[in-house]
Amino acid sequence: MSRIRLFVVAAVVLAFALTAFSASKGDPSKGKFLFKQNCKTCHTKGAAGGELTPMSKSMEQWRAYFAKGTHNHGKEDLSKYMESNQLLDAKAFLVAHASDSLQPETCGK
Ligand code: HEC
Repeated sequence: MSRIRLFVVAAVVLAFALTAFSASKGDPSKGKFLFKQNCKTCHTKGAAGGELTPMSKSMEQWRAYFAKGTHNHGKEDLSKYMESNQLLDAKAFLVAHASDSLQPETCGK
């Protein structure tokens, strides 16, 4: 195999690896959309779940919450509301804007 070919193969492998890696970390902008669409329905002031924003928890608390993966005091799985890749996106968004993050955010109303 020529050197240039080897280089191209290595670049392609690297690109795939990076894509897989970023996918496993979740996409915060998708997560924001998903959180608004799937969680905010019940998580505003006066609604069934009460107000919930990224700032409701610290980065570590959000990580722990999604690691546990249960909802409503352990009564059900978080996966009831989103697919696992979507939960990764939501988690990425919530962690990125948690109370002790660099950009705390309330995610609107
Ligand atoms: C069908 C309504 C509903 C939806 C949709 C919903 N929740 Fe909840 N959530 C609740 C209720 C009810 C509680 C319990 C509130 C309480 O104890 O006062 C709760 C509690 C919580 C809590 C507090 C801790 C705990 O016990 O779980 C968190 C965090 C939470 N929800 C996150 C989410 C996230 C993230 C989503 C979207 C993936 C979501 N919720 C979607 C109704 C909902």
